[in-house]
Amino acid sequence: MRPLSSFPKVSLGVFPTPIQRLDNISHTLGVNVYIKRDDLTGLGLGGNKVRKLEYLMADARDKGAKLVFTTGGAQSNHAMLTAAAAAKLGMKAVLILKKRGVTERVGNQYLEYLMGTEVILMDTDDYAEIYSEMDRIGEASGLPCYKIPMGGSNALGALGYVECVKEIAEQGLRFDHIVCAEGSGGTMAGLALGAKLFMPDARVHGMLVDTGPFEEITQKLIRESGALLESDEDLEDLSGENYDLRDVCGIGYAIPSEKGNAALSMMAEQEGLFLDPVYTGKAFGGLISMAEEGAFGENDKVLFLHSGGAGGLFAVR
Ligand SMILES: Cc1ncc(COP(=O)(O)O)c(C=O)c1O
Repeated sequence: MRPLSSFPKVSLGVFPTPIQRLDNISHTLGVNVYIKRDDLTGLGLGGNKVRKLEYLMADARDKGAKLVFTTGGAQSNHAMLTAAAAAKLGMKAVLILKKRGVTERVGNQYLEYLMGTEVILMDTDDYAEIYSEMDRIGEASGLPCYKIPMGGSNALGALGYVECVKEIAEQGLRFDHIVCAEGSGGTMAGLALGAKLFMPDARVHGMLVDTGPFEEITQKLIRESGALLESDEDLEDLSGENYDLRDVCGIGYAIPSEKGNAALSMMAEQEGLFLDPVYTGKAFGGLISMAEEGAFGENDKVLFLHSGGAGGLFAVR
């Protein structure tokens, strides 16, 4: 297997991130729950995208890019962190985001304003239109460009979460379960592949905060990242064996759910930590449901990935 250290990376954050036991919540749920503080990754307001961007921005830099494009929803944490990474590396970011009726400069949009980022809100739900707009702007600029897909979720970006599992193992801790939010798939795919390679007894539970063919998306990303790593493992279908997915979306993406809001409150009230209503709140709600269903053994150690999202928290009314 090709070592992770052989892939070019830029340093954007602070690693390893801490792992803490959630004593009060563990008591309430009757399960040993730990939290991986990827909300403290050290760029912007932290979050999971920093690990992916360390690989993606290195690729952009090595290809000579001056202009970096990415996309997502109007409150995309990924887009905001891409702009922060570009600012740090002296590149220009252009964010083409789905407008979906947004009119206020709040949350991540306010942070983008503070960074002087060029943000274009497009009134479309079609990513193909957004990517062709990137091509049009890129050509007109005459600058070397680099396009990062929504969520930074491609084979290279997912390596950030393969590395995260290696980091957890190197922190001297072993978990039976790892729980994360899944929005575009890269985090979950990286964790599932990382667990297969570095913590084979752990099972990864992806909490789906959006609708879509996530089994296919996840499995494809696992295969493609595994191919980058020249892994000899059989990665054809890890679903069921190494990971499973659970729908926690509720009414729809970015629409807060009752269970997610209750989880957010529990974390704030019992641990003094803040989740967000779009990703981590719903994901932690899924963990609570699993605990209520008896899915975890008495001695199991469960790790919740806090993937950030603080910027979006301030866009909630
Ligand atoms: C705070 C937060 N958590 C989790 C996710 C989901 O990660 P992924 O897109 O890799 O599935 C995102 C994605 O945008 C996010 O912003």
